[in-house]
This record gives sequence, C-alpha cells and structure tokens, in this order.
Amino acid sequence: MERFHVESEQELRLLAGAAEDAGIDTVDVLLRVNLPSAGDELGGAALAMGGRPSPFGLDPEAVERCLPLLSPGGAGGPLRLRGIHAHLASGLDAPAQVAVAAAIADWARKLSERHGLGITEVNVGGGMGVDYAHPDRRFDWAVYGRGMADLALRHSGLTLRIEPGRALTVYCGWYVTEVLDIKHSGGEAFAVVRGGTHHIRTPATKQHDQPFQVLLGDKAWARPWARPAVRDEPVTLVGQLCTPKDVLAGRIPVAELRVGDRVAFAMAGAYAWNISHHDFLMHPRPGFHYLDA
Ligand SMILES: Cc1ncc(COP(=O)(O)O)c(C=O)c1O
Repeated sequence: MERFHVESEQELRLLAGAAEDAGIDTVDVLLRVNLPSAGDELGGAALAMGGRPSPFGLDPEAVERCLPLLSPGGAGGPLRLRGIHAHLASGLDAPAQVAVAAAIADWARKLSERHGLGITEVNVGGGMGVDYAHPDRRFDWAVYGRGMADLALRHSGLTLRIEPGRALTVYCGWYVTEVLDIKHSGGEAFAVVRGGTHHIRTPATKQHDQPFQVLLGDKAWARPWARPAVRDEPVTLVGQLCTPKDVLAGRIPVAELRVGDRVAFAMAGAYAWNISHHDFLMHPRPGFHYLDA
C-alpha cells in the first residue's frame, strides 16, 4: 500500500537505485504534477505551490519525459506508475477545491489514455481553506464531499485520494501565554507576552492577527504599584523578541487585559510551533499538554 510521491526525474532515479540496492521488486509511484492549466482555479488561494512556475512537482511535459522510467522493464527498474499526485495550493474554499480536483483528475485520465498507462489513482492534495479572521467560518466539507462524489462518479475507474492538513488540525491547538507588561507608545497600547513568534510564527508568516481570548487571572496583585492594564481599548500583542516583527495580533479591541492575565491564542494546531524559529534568542520552550476529548 506504500506509495512514493515523486517530484523530479532526479528523485525517480534515486528511488530506483535505492529500491534496487534494497532488493525490492516493485515500488509504486505517483508523479506529482504542477498543472499550469489549473492556474485559473487558484485565484483565491492563500498559498500557491503550483499552477505557475514552481519548485514543486513536475511540469506536464516533464511527466511525459519520465514515463519511460516507469514502464515495466524500463530504465527505472522496479518503479511502477500507479497514478498522479498534485497539491497545487492551500487556502481554497470548497467549490474551488472541487474545480482543482476535477482539473487534476481530467488531466490524469487524458495522460493515461494517451499513453495507455492504466493509471488507477489520483491524489488531489490538500489545501482546504481556514479563515483566521473568522475562526467559526469552517471549510464546507458537505459541499466538498458532494463535489468529490460527483467527480468520483465521472472517473469511475480511478481511486481519488485527498490529503487535508490545516483544516482538520488547526482548531485543535491553543497557545497560551502570560502578559508580562503593558505599556503605551505614541498613544497606542502594547501588551508584551512571555512567548512570541518563536513559539507561534503563524501570524508573522501569514501577516494576520492570530485570534485570541483573554483569560483574566484571579490572582491578587501583590506589588506596591498599580497593575498595568488596558480597558476598552485596542491593544497590540507582542512577544519578547528583539524585532518589530514579533507581533501576534495588532490593535485588537479588548474589554480588559492586565499584567499577569493569560492570553489563549486559537487556531494553533497547524503550522504553529512546527514552523517557528524556536532558538532565536534561546528563550525557553512552551510546555505541551495533550487533552483527551
Ligand atoms: C503535498 C502536500 N499535501 C498536503 C498539504 C496540506 O496542505 P493544507 O494544510 O493546506 O491542507 C501540504 C502542505 O503544504 C503539502 O505540501
């Protein structure tokens, strides 16, 4: 059942050599294609890996050039072409995802018919959109499911696979950090939190405000000066790093936020800790807590 998704001729040749060295007879391969013809469907994508010049996948002509390496007895030895893979973009809504999947499946079937390949599988990738500005607006899985079911009927000989990422996991993680300081500069309020973009680089990378909730602490203030706080005012939440890019959310109105309160950043279950520059300034790492539902 293992499948290798291969993105270049070099990778194909390396895979063939590794399989031969290991004495493996058959290796099932899906070639990853970058389809310029699907480019029109990707207009709304947050991030495009294909549909235009890109290091991801093979151009359609390069796929055709690789076919001799995948025919039985060909130069690719144990490699066997099972199908086509494409992951062209992230951040598409359900109708756009279905349109992209249709473009990939149609292209794969024509390729198969043109060369008599008998392709049986098409993996249409992930990229189901998530909306950081509106965490309650979720990807419409029902519309997507109906569209994919129709597509599967149109391509009855093909197994269609998907590989969703963030739309499944992003809502399952929270990043909680403590407010260390609150200050004003030029009339604007800033709250400095213990963590920062070295723990959750997502807002800096994607240039958005990470959605959050304030968790008001109930600990009494034990210092002999007034507790720094903001009330009914927009506040920018920043980390402790020595860069103005260490911003988690900008000018967000809050009813109340005080030093010692905690801020729980939502949508931290995908591309959060894993894409962050953990060792910038060598600050401590956060703790990880896994909850059973
Ligand atoms: C090949 C491939 N498949 C699937 C995904 C998942 O994408 P997403 O999290 O947008 O669903 C990615 C993410 O970059 C990817 O590179």
